[in-house]
Amino acid sequence: MKKEIILKGNGFILRLYKKGDELSLSKNANNKKIAQNMFLGFPSPYTLEEAKKWVGICLKKNKIGPITGFVIDIDGEVAGTVGGEIDKKKPFMLGFGYWLGEKYWGKGIMSEATKLYIDYIFKDFKKINRIESSVFPWNEGSKKVLLKNGFKLEGISRKSYLKDGKIIDVYHFAKLRNE
Ligand SMILES: CC(C)(COP(=O)(O)OP(=O)(O)OC[C@H]1O[C@@H](n2cnc3c(N)ncnc32)[C@H](O)[C@@H]1OP(=O)(O)O)[C@@H](O)C(=O)NCCC(=O)NCCS
Repeated sequence: MKKEIILKGNGFILRLYKKGDELSLSKNANNKKIAQNMFLGFPSPYTLEEAKKWVGICLKKNKIGPITGFVIDIDGEVAGTVGGEIDKKKPFMLGFGYWLGEKYWGKGIMSEATKLYIDYIFKDFKKINRIESSVFPWNEGSKKVLLKNGFKLEGISRKSYLKDGKIIDVYHFAKLRNE
């Protein structure tokens, strides 16, 4: 199933994981400022062992398909990722998430990577009608990335998530195919 997909951005590309990505993945992802914005499942610390596990999972997944996860590659490094899961029970929906290494923040990279990603999803997955993404209240950068890409804030689930020992609100955004 694996096919080579490369989506070109300004100063970066979106590509599939490959062997050899482990070191730069752990280097750029191992950052509390990233982890504090991520949902369950994002390792912290992001050790080399964790990176090896994750790259292994992605390589297997890409062999089977569908391909819904990409590395943001800058100069050959895993600078960040954009990816999503198609809801098994609702195959018309995809949950979308992303992170970027701190040294690359504030340059418009995630706004553009998100655009490339959602264009790819809506073009290649005709059944997907809705892409959704959830954000913690303090994450203004991430809210802006979504709003700039046509996502709408659909609601706030109050006191609905346990993060680092605190019960917090979660902001829910979504974009429909025809928007
Ligand atoms: C959130 C994140 C993805 C943003 O990536 P980025 O490439 O720096 O974002 P962009 O440069 O495209 O910025 C998008 C907009 O948000 C603004 N912005 C970025 N960081 C911001 C911040 N901390 N506070 C307020 N605004 C911010 C930018 O100024 C830009 O607005 P503009 O286009 O009007 O100038 C990145 O900071 C990150 O990976 N953070 C940690 C992990 C994370 O939060 N993941 C998402 C979980 S929901």
